[in-house]
Amino acid sequence: MISIFKSNKEESKGNNIVLDKENIPKHIAIIMDGNGRWAKERNLPRTFGHKAGVETIRKILKECDKIGVRYLTLYAFSTENWKRPKDEVSALMKLLVEYLRKELEELNKNNVVVRSIGDISKLPKICQDELMASYKKTKNNTGVVLNLALNYGGRDEIIYGIKKAYEKIQKGEISIDDIDDTTFGNFLYTEGIPDPDLIIRPSGEQRLSNFLLWQCAYSEFWYSTINWPDFKEEDLHKAIYDYQHRNRRFGGIK
Ligand code: FPP
Repeated sequence: MISIFKSNKEESKGNNIVLDKENIPKHIAIIMDGNGRWAKERNLPRTFGHKAGVETIRKILKECDKIGVRYLTLYAFSTENWKRPKDEVSALMKLLVEYLRKELEELNKNNVVVRSIGDISKLPKICQDELMASYKKTKNNTGVVLNLALNYGGRDEIIYGIKKAYEKIQKGEISIDDIDDTTFGNFLYTEGIPDPDLIIRPSGEQRLSNFLLWQCAYSEFWYSTINWPDFKEEDLHKAIYDYQHRNRRFGGIK
């Protein structure tokens, strides 16, 4: 068991959360929603919300590492987010570059592996360069995998997987019978990453928005009305606590 207390005072008030350390979700995926609304509530431009959202990334990544989560996937930019105003798209790309530049040393020191999913070839060259440098620097690390979903869409990924599998079949490297619901995962961006155990969406929306469509078959979902910039370590604990009290049956009977 891991006890998570904010302070001794809280413990005595009975606000403690005790997590079962034998049942920590191996992979948590988060739809970082509500940045715009967070900014609007404060009469700030939307990009301030995204900036504040990056602070939450720092906190939550650290906490995942502390608790023992092995993979953290963050939905940072979807294939549909290109529809946003140009300024917002540029600000998001800039934030990504800044984050990687500022944090890479620290991420590496903390043994974090940086990965991404999605078609990054469509991102500005500077983003691609920073991502490449981050993969290279952290590829031999053994700690938590920070998996950034960038220009990512679940449907796009499935089509990408089908094309990759078809190519291999055409070249005679595999036969059509080699494709099943386990092997198909090897053709997706998430190759080598286990399916998410827990998908978290803050901000009150209760939809998947084209996130990890193939991989979420048996994920547990957890929603909260808190906007991502306000999402705290305690919220992560609550989500994990709830997860630990679900009855995961994977279609079977327990
Ligand atoms: C959704 O909130 C959030 C996004 C589309 C972008 C998330 C990106 C970051 C937190 C920062 C950039 C990423 C990295 C890895 C440095 P929204 O804008 O849809 O919020 P709203 O629904 O309240 O308008």
